[in-house]
Amino acid sequence: MLLFFAVLLIILILLLRKVNENYFVLALCKRIKCVDGKPLEEKVWVMPGKTIFGNNFDVLNVTPGKLFELARGWAKFSRGRSYVLHFSIGSVYNIINAEDAEQLFLSQSITTKGINYDFLQPFLGDGLLISREEKWHLRRKMLTPAFHFNILQTFNEIFKEESLRLLEKLKHLQHDNINISDVIDEFSLNNVCETALGVKLNDIDGESEYRAAIHKIEPIIIRRVCNPLLHYGIIFHLFGQYREYKHYAEITHNFSSKIINRKRKGFLLNGNSSSIDEKNSYVKARYAMLDTLLHQEAQGLVDHQGICEEVDTFMFEGYDTTSTCLKFALLNLAQYPDIQEKCYQEIASLTTFENLTVFDFNNLEYLGCVIKETLRMYPSVPVVTRRCTKDTVLNGLFLPTNTQIFIHIYDIMRDSKHFPEPSVFKPERFLAENTLDMHPFAFVPFSAGSRNCIGQKFAMLEIKAALVAILRTYRVLPIMQTKDLILQYGITLKTNQKLFVKLEPRVI
Ligand code: HEM
Repeated sequence: MLLFFAVLLIILILLLRKVNENYFVLALCKRIKCVDGKPLEEKVWVMPGKTIFGNNFDVLNVTPGKLFELARGWAKFSRGRSYVLHFSIGSVYNIINAEDAEQLFLSQSITTKGINYDFLQPFLGDGLLISREEKWHLRRKMLTPAFHFNILQTFNEIFKEESLRLLEKLKHLQHDNINISDVIDEFSLNNVCETALGVKLNDIDGESEYRAAIHKIEPIIIRRVCNPLLHYGIIFHLFGQYREYKHYAEITHNFSSKIINRKRKGFLLNGNSSSIDEKNSYVKARYAMLDTLLHQEAQGLVDHQGICEEVDTFMFEGYDTTSTCLKFALLNLAQYPDIQEKCYQEIASLTTFENLTVFDFNNLEYLGCVIKETLRMYPSVPVVTRRCTKDTVLNGLFLPTNTQIFIHIYDIMRDSKHFPEPSVFKPERFLAENTLDMHPFAFVPFSAGSRNCIGQKFAMLEIKAALVAILRTYRVLPIMQTKDLILQYGITLKTNQKLFVKLEPRVI
């Protein structure tokens, strides 16, 4: 009898060892392997977990700040090598350098978004950010014309108007320490609302509920990201904040749906022309992204739900990303008066603000470098993710179905191989003559490849408009040091402290 159990035990152990070759049994996930059969450690760093269950217990219920710190710790520990983590949701291949990111960005097949995008789905539906395969191809093709240069020119007028409104707001605050989120968030949301929907946000009923709902959704999603147990839909439904999430998502959907319906009525009444002026809410003869979609709807290429998904996606993607960059840019300008002065010299000779064209903004090379350096050090989107929908080979690795790939844009752009003294703010790195030999995937704040940011020119223009307006009128003074910032993950990069600057009117 004893012998029987001993034999059974040995068979079981042998079986487990066999299974363990392909599965990390205790971590409950399939293993990533080297295609050439060599040990995985030769190609990537395999991050040891805190327990024998892989990395499953390394990130249990951490705070967004702790998670950010952990990821930086892992990058430091692996000394610049991409690394693998093992979770029950699947193995995670973490890419932290440009060399490893290259194949991924060039891949036409690894384009499906990773697990964290699933959490956004109830909010954004299958809009451009999340959709995949054929649907994504069609929508990308459909929406690309909405960012055509001619349309950016009309958006430029909106950005300038909103920049002047921003100055009005700042005028009342110029004697105090200014919490820049208070003014910049509103500036950015107004811009995206007017360019996406063709409507001034302040003119619409329910505007403040909409704003509040967007801000309420973010912490729910982040809490879910930070707790792997809540990654499972059923646990999130039962014990997470599913109901709250649904409630706030509904507020945003009703808001955008209402505007789309109103605008569609005007669109049909005007014989598919976009110059609608209903209750003075719509800005005459200005083309909005929604107009592109309504035209496509008239041709049967998209339905109401599709339009809602895209509008919600643009509102979301175009809002927080841009405002995050603007806030960090202002902090950097405040901290480095010499750099601020160079920007001022560049813009001082420009024509009146109201007459500035897209060309004028594009020609501001040094200001462009400041924005790029800001995005390099403080990328609005610090990490993007992909999921392998089938067994995949990448960088000599065999990635089984359901492997998650996390591309840490933050670490890639702080790699001292490509950016010497990566923690020093040096806009000159981006002067044309200094970028000739730059690795094509070393600077990727807008991601790269087929799923890159569709709104990058839009964003650069909007940010430049705001900075030119502010720098022409004020000297931005520091209240806090960027070295004291404690960064943390949000849907976009966040800090755990409020951000302040002070303004001093320029005497001209
Ligand atoms: C500084 C500002 C911005 C930054 C840093 C930024 C960054 C990014 C990044 C990194 C991605 C790739 C996401 C991924 O691969 O998962 C992305 C995608 C996207 N962005 Fe932006 N973005 C910015 C502004 C904007 C603006 C202003 C809009 C629209 C008005 C926009 C719309 C989108 C959309 C729709 C996608 C999905 C594209 C696709 O998958 O085809 N973004 N953005």
